[in-house]
Amino acid sequence: MRLPYRQRPLPGCRGGPHLDGRTSCVCQDPRVIQQWWHSAVVYQVWPRSFADSNGDGVGDLRGLIGKLDHLSDLGVDVVWLSPVYPSPQVDNGYDISDYQDVDPLFGTLADLDELIACLHARGMRLVLDVVVNHTSDQHPWFVESRSSRTSPKRHWYFWCDQPPNDWTSLFAGPAWQLDEATGEYYLHTFAREQPDLRWEEPQVRAAVVDLLRWWLDRGVDGFRLDVISMISKDLDKPEGILGFGPDLHDHLHELHREVFAGRDLITVGETPGTSVEQARLLTEPERRELDMVFEFEHVSLDRGVSKWDVVPLTLPTLKRCFETWQDGIGSGWNSLYWDNHDQPRVVSRFGDDGEHRVASASTLATVLHLHRGTPFIYQGEELGMADARFTSLSDYRDLESLNHYAEAVARGQPPEQVLAALQRTSRDNARTPVQWDSSQHAGFTAGTPWIPVGSAAGTVNAAAQRNDPHSVLAHYRRLIRLRHEVPAVAYGDFTLLLPEDERVWAFTRHYEQVELLVVANLSAQHVVPALDGWQDGELLLGNLPEPGPVLRPWESRVLRR
Ligand code: GLC
Repeated sequence: MRLPYRQRPLPGCRGGPHLDGRTSCVCQDPRVIQQWWHSAVVYQVWPRSFADSNGDGVGDLRGLIGKLDHLSDLGVDVVWLSPVYPSPQVDNGYDISDYQDVDPLFGTLADLDELIACLHARGMRLVLDVVVNHTSDQHPWFVESRSSRTSPKRHWYFWCDQPPNDWTSLFAGPAWQLDEATGEYYLHTFAREQPDLRWEEPQVRAAVVDLLRWWLDRGVDGFRLDVISMISKDLDKPEGILGFGPDLHDHLHELHREVFAGRDLITVGETPGTSVEQARLLTEPERRELDMVFEFEHVSLDRGVSKWDVVPLTLPTLKRCFETWQDGIGSGWNSLYWDNHDQPRVVSRFGDDGEHRVASASTLATVLHLHRGTPFIYQGEELGMADARFTSLSDYRDLESLNHYAEAVARGQPPEQVLAALQRTSRDNARTPVQWDSSQHAGFTAGTPWIPVGSAAGTVNAAAQRNDPHSVLAHYRRLIRLRHEVPAVAYGDFTLLLPEDERVWAFTRHYEQVELLVVANLSAQHVVPALDGWQDGELLLGNLPEPGPVLRPWESRVLRR
């Protein structure tokens, strides 16, 4: 299909930007060794809210097994499963009390084996989320460690007479907790029920190696390593709680040597606060550490002094941030994501979840998926699900939100103000049940859902979108197919165009003889980009029907020449 670019703007449209404002060309590092996961798309299942098979109001493995058609129709290659291990569920499973089993809340080990087999039968792989920076305080290791100062596992955790620093926990309050029974303090970067493991202790590292191997032998295809950059800490550093301590690379190198090497798997490390230079070191293949990381820069740009403080973000800032990472990762590799279980929903955050919900959700997907890196889709994102924005504190479940509320109100902040902040940034925004259909509780459960279902479930749901070619779901399907079929999507050189434009996000990708142009309108106005040289471009993908010379609100296209 040929597009009539260069036509005169429609009356009422503002003059369009010119796509000649090129900035630096990010050239594909010739050392990049092609891997299957470069052209793959990962889908994150946060099991508690995915699908409930037994009516207890909480999602489970059998619920997930029952929905695999949704994932294979979408075309994803890999499923990342958030923790299903036995856990007191203080932090929804990120507080593990047994690394080698399944919590009855989610099912059984046999269910997990069946999930692996069913995914493999459909050509998909399974990545498990492992949380080895900390355990639950109910894990037998910690129970033993805490039992006495002379316990053989005392050194598996950080114990001290007096806190060596004044770090605060990322879930509010001090990071050092006094244990009354033994009179010493232990470190917890997150909740006090999540004590940090001491990776300097060789037995800790050996235990982690064992459990990772055990899962690989069981058939899983890789790991998402929770806050892995925190496993090495410098206790003398005032801001050291974010990790990146002196032994980080050694620890990862050891894991690679002992566990990952020689296996066909995929590893992605969650690395809050990583710089692009650090990310390159973590992912350059010759360094043998990780395959890719989750960086946090692009999801921190609209945050002020803390995550509860939302500040305005301009499109040029966001575009530049992505450009920096395209360039800076060198021969390493990055992930691409908008959403996950810790972030608000992108359509509410950077898009328009009202009038332009469908167009903005699909355009945000287009720009993300057309960058270099492996895209991650978080459950419900492919439906354009919006933030929960609960108006009553009693609807919130996440301890991070509840702790923050208690602490901020105790400090004297007006409760309405704190609640307004939760509505924008709480992790519960993205944790409401997946909206499967318009029946009661969105088809998620026959019981009472553990957290309220989103208010738009009647119209925004998978059943309504499945056969609609103009749905967000159909658009995600097309984006995934594009990555699978056009190598330039995975490997093309990246050049940002129009870096200062406040409404248009445009860039090219160049690979061998093929050049792609991505041009997207991130505004509610009409714009007319003058696409010099692209008049005869072939339209590979557009998010709105009947494309014309003007980019309508939140319209995006991918062209090839
Ligand atoms: C990671 C997880 C988050 C969890 C935290 C502590 O950031 O994504 O959900 O609360 O680690 O384990």
